[in-house]
Amino acid sequence: MCGIIGYIGNKQAYPIIIKGLKRLEYRGYDSTGIALLQKGETIIYKQKGKVSHLEDTIVDENLSGTVGIGHTRWATHGEPNDMNAHPHASQNKKFVIIHNGIIENYSRLKKKLKARGYKFISETDTEVLANLIEYIYEKGNVSAEIAVRLALTKVIGAYGIVVICKDEPDMLIAARKGSPLVIGIGNNEHYIASDATPIVEHTKSVIYLNNDNIAVIKRGELTIKTIDNAEIEPQVQELTLEIGAIEKNGYDHFMLKEIFEQPRSITDTFRGRIASDLSEMRLGGLLDIMPQLEKAKRILIIACGTSWHAGLVGEYLIEEFARIPVEVEYGSEFRYRNPIIYKDDIVIAISQSGETADTLAAINLAKEAGATVLGICNVVGSSIPRETHAGVYTHAGPEIGVASTKAFTAQVTILTMMALILGKNKGTLSEESYLKLIKELTDIPKKIEEILKSSKNYKSIAELYKNAGNFIYLGRGYLFPVALEGALKLKEISYIHAEGYPAAEMKHGPIALIDEKMPVVVLATKDKSYDKIVTNIQEVKARNGIVIAIVSQGDEIIKNMADHVFEVPNTHEALAPLLTVIPLQLLSYYIAVIRGCNVDQPRNLAKSVTVE
Ligand code: F6R
Repeated sequence: MCGIIGYIGNKQAYPIIIKGLKRLEYRGYDSTGIALLQKGETIIYKQKGKVSHLEDTIVDENLSGTVGIGHTRWATHGEPNDMNAHPHASQNKKFVIIHNGIIENYSRLKKKLKARGYKFISETDTEVLANLIEYIYEKGNVSAEIAVRLALTKVIGAYGIVVICKDEPDMLIAARKGSPLVIGIGNNEHYIASDATPIVEHTKSVIYLNNDNIAVIKRGELTIKTIDNAEIEPQVQELTLEIGAIEKNGYDHFMLKEIFEQPRSITDTFRGRIASDLSEMRLGGLLDIMPQLEKAKRILIIACGTSWHAGLVGEYLIEEFARIPVEVEYGSEFRYRNPIIYKDDIVIAISQSGETADTLAAINLAKEAGATVLGICNVVGSSIPRETHAGVYTHAGPEIGVASTKAFTAQVTILTMMALILGKNKGTLSEESYLKLIKELTDIPKKIEEILKSSKNYKSIAELYKNAGNFIYLGRGYLFPVALEGALKLKEISYIHAEGYPAAEMKHGPIALIDEKMPVVVLATKDKSYDKIVTNIQEVKARNGIVIAIVSQGDEIIKNMADHVFEVPNTHEALAPLLTVIPLQLLSYYIAVIRGCNVDQPRNLAKSVTVE
């Protein structure tokens, strides 16, 4: 979603801002803009479209200045156009502001400001906030800091804002409620951004702003206060992020890089958590909570999108190995449907970004009801790990491609470890099976490497089906969530309509769609439902459907029935999602590339969905 970058220091701000905006492109956006302070005036350039487009447009302008802010906008209030792009100036040009989030009571505030003579030139909630700050500043004859603080007490909603005041030029004011902001500390300079990616090449010392905090940022001085004006001690942290992790490193797209990173990212997920003799596993972040987890009568898993699919795999794993009932919920449904939450429920929130608004709201609901909430997140320092009682990081590294790939396999890896540890501790999983499964898990990275060796084969199949109007994905048991994930991957990056189904459900409806034009991707590795999935393949073939099957190495039966097969190495069926999802990621990737789609930044999508 929207991205923020700001700089105040002794260097020229523009190159930092424009590069920062390019680093933020992965979040998804439709317009962009910058503001620079020049001799007491704030110059704004903004327009619909890409950052490089803006860069080209303003190449001959005076772009000097050591204080600046930049924004990538993902439209919520008002269509993506030049006027609605950020930054927004207040009517009398005293304030310029960039904003992530949504001001829910903006129309009421707008009405009041209009009654006091304010005119609006955009449709955004952000311009309302800019004018509200200015109104308080001028009417109350207060400092910019006080004006921002008082304005924010009137606001309902979520925000991460950075404000420039023309009368107080050596200062940026930032505030956060809901939408994250991180401040980078340099040498007599400060950076501010919506995540660490534009900061990491400048400094590794950062402060994550907490909710309801306001930061007054000067070149060599930083003050953080609560919205009630109480000063607080900033907590400086060191980023572990390396710059190489947010660059393409020779790959055509971040998505391809991230698909290929999975042997490494899965290894990083279990690194230090599995004993070198493979006799034991532990998840440090859950140690204290383990006794409670083992006693749990019910686990609720809450997530959205791909993370929800990982959660579904988690349900199958935890129910099988730990025999604890699990329910998997979409954050958006859970928060609004008056769910039953018991005090002794364990809620597991899964999120790559750690910022998904619906998942966060569901967490708060569960906490209010007294449940214990755990997080499985990728982005260190994000909101979900802060809001949960305990949790584990997936350590997959930054995921820049909008379509989630390595985050999914890292999440499934953590859920597998949790299920096995719980099962062993509860005695529902034998020591022998526990040890065997640890070994199988540690073998997964090299098996993925094997699958990746034949990645080029997916290109020719992609070429054959690049113009298909629809795809169906089928799987059973552990592979049903993988079918959902495969369909999601295809639709989001190639814009081909795709549906995932439990294979047996096909005859309850989707079979009506099957004809000689319908590619059906069937996940059919050797497991306890193998014979049944073979029958499902026959049902598709009997109706002239095209079968693309993902099979276990050496499977001759399906090879003779399917139109195309992709082999994956053998593993325990509970670990098969970690292998079978790789061909589906590759297939989607190549289809999208051949169709000329913007793989890393698909239309309308955002990397972290910070609005509901
Ligand atoms: C799909 C995808 C989305 C996210 C979803 C949840 O490829 O990336 O469906 O999985 O928006 O995001 P997180 O995991 O950040 O909560």
